[in-house]
Amino acid sequence: MKTETSQPTGTGEIEPTVTMTAIPVWLMALLFVLLFFGAWYFDLYGGWFDARVYAPYRSVPDLARYQPNSDPDANFVAFGKKLYSENCAVCHMETGVGNPANGCPPLIDSEWVHHEAPDRMIMLISRGLTGPITVNGKVYNTGTMLAVGDSLPGDEKEKSAKIAAIASYVRRHFGELPGVVKPDHAEAVRAGIKDHSGYFTAEDLMKAP
Ligand code: HEC
Repeated sequence: MKTETSQPTGTGEIEPTVTMTAIPVWLMALLFVLLFFGAWYFDLYGGWFDARVYAPYRSVPDLARYQPNSDPDANFVAFGKKLYSENCAVCHMETGVGNPANGCPPLIDSEWVHHEAPDRMIMLISRGLTGPITVNGKVYNTGTMLAVGDSLPGDEKEKSAKIAAIASYVRRHFGELPGVVKPDHAEAVRAGIKDHSGYFTAEDLMKAP
């Protein structure tokens, strides 16, 4: 900091000279504190803008929530999950463990669910199933599955879409099979069984892909 002091000169006049003095430590400290407080305050309140302008995401999960859903079929499968809860879980349970005491086989570890082609699943959901069926080495023969798919509300197109959604959810969730069953495919399979009346048997299903 520059201060002016007065020096006597030969002519009797006072000549100003310039000398240096240090800034007081307390002032430096105060400036630092003010600067720090200012930065902190600005960060907190975003300079009176919404704080999200400066720090839009506070965590990685927060950021992920704002990303577009990378699975284009997520809504379709979620629709299937809802229909499964409403129409299948009463017998096969939400968790897919089934109710073996009442003849309802499990969907987890089931070769019928893991089966590559979805045709058999579309068939049995549509018309139901009766008679002996082996699931994961165990024979089930005391229960009958009703024609749940056929009795879903809606016209043929809507039924097919709903059955495809249920099959998609069951295959993904209990069978760990990727992809979805297309409504068009369900409609085609259903067109192929339109003359079949009554429940299917495991034997009938084995003839399908
Ligand atoms: C009224 C109870 C009941 C309902 C509701 C029901 N099921 Fe079944 N399900 C059964 C029974 C019982 C069997 C075995 C039938 C047999 O023994 O032939 C079976 C068999 C199956 C099988 C083949 C065997 C296996 O465990 O993998 C699948 C797959 C299946 N059901 C899926 C479904 C789906 C999907 C729904 C909903 C759309 C559904 N079920 C609704 C009772 C039911």
